Amino acid sequence: MFNIRKITNDLFYIGCSDRRLQLFESAYPIPNGISYNSFLLKDEKTVLFDTVDKVCSSQFFKNLLGALDGRKLDYLIVQHMEPDHAALIYEVKRLFPELKIVCTVKAQAMIKQFFDFDIDSCIISVKENDVLNTGNHELQFIMAPMVHWPEVMVTYDKTTQSLFSADAFGSFGAINGNLFDNEVNWEKDYLDEARRYYTNIVGKYGLQVQMLLKKVFELDIKTIYPLHGLLIRENIDLYIDKYNKWSLYLPEEKSVLIAYTSVYGGTEATVELIAAKLADRGIRNIKMYDLSYSHQSIVLSEAFKASHIVLASTTYNAGVFESMQSFIHSLVSHNLQNRKFAIIENGSWAVTCGNQIKAELEKLKGTEILTDAFCIKSTLKKEQLTELDNVVITIEKSLNM
Ligand code: FEO
Repeated sequence: MFNIRKITNDLFYIGCSDRRLQLFESAYPIPNGISYNSFLLKDEKTVLFDTVDKVCSSQFFKNLLGALDGRKLDYLIVQHMEPDHAALIYEVKRLFPELKIVCTVKAQAMIKQFFDFDIDSCIISVKENDVLNTGNHELQFIMAPMVHWPEVMVTYDKTTQSLFSADAFGSFGAINGNLFDNEVNWEKDYLDEARRYYTNIVGKYGLQVQMLLKKVFELDIKTIYPLHGLLIRENIDLYIDKYNKWSLYLPEEKSVLIAYTSVYGGTEATVELIAAKLADRGIRNIKMYDLSYSHQSIVLSEAFKASHIVLASTTYNAGVFESMQSFIHSLVSHNLQNRKFAIIENGSWAVTCGNQIKAELEKLKGTEILTDAFCIKSTLKKEQLTELDNVVITIEKSLNM
């Protein structure tokens, strides 16, 4: 049976959700599932905005054929070629042999990488600000390279002032009946997963997101239709503001994230004490994660939110403990900038990891290392408490600047 959601008189949601996938992109846990959004516009011409992941193939085709209700499909707009949206291009083309595929030149080349049918004869290739008139609707194409692949474009429906935004403004999380952000408590229940999606999937490409945002700022937008997660009509300004901060690598708030590794508890006990001392000095909203337990994608997302980050690591094999090394690699590869760090190093015989962590962090633009690494040998000692208090006071002062 089809499950079609009528959005307006001529626009239909025909996407699907997956709550069984363990790791999105074989990398990110999705405890709340994921949706693959697809939209059908039934104007004088019929237009499909992207397909879905192959896992949803059966439901998607029921939805597509049900929504078309006997009409043929005229256009498939391919905004993004990643297979979570583009897997079913060939099957759609087989169903509708006269179909025209609308995409960028780069997407055309990628379709050839993924498929073997005669592509050139059915392509309408578009560039910045080209417009497709479908009857009552004027669809304007806006290039969005690297948000999140090089071939990406988004589509602005000038008639309804709607932005079909591809991966931009997408989020982890299945569609649970409610389709729009104003039908849930979006900021409380969904923003964290939107941040985790953005930072992990698109976070590296802040410059390119800024280029897209400059174009978005010039549009009147009443609704955003991303390819993942809820459709946005109530929190547009808030979401764009978050995107602006995330892509400029500006902290969302003055707050402290403590990320640590601890083999026998010595490092953990020290950061617990740091957190308690910060709290006693009035610092609120402190977040703490054991990197060997919490998934890196969650901690990376918190790092994009916080202004101050305490990294505490065991020395291991004369280097940085593996889960900390992996997290720091993630900070560097996602291009995090403008953060203030404090480093805590531990080791029972040779303590070497602090300088190695510092060297990695200095690769990031706008990094400030607040103090010399605080060194523990196995466990914190009473005589180190004054020095530890100084670390806490330095973080507090920096937060209050
Ligand atoms: Fe949801 Fe970049 O694909």
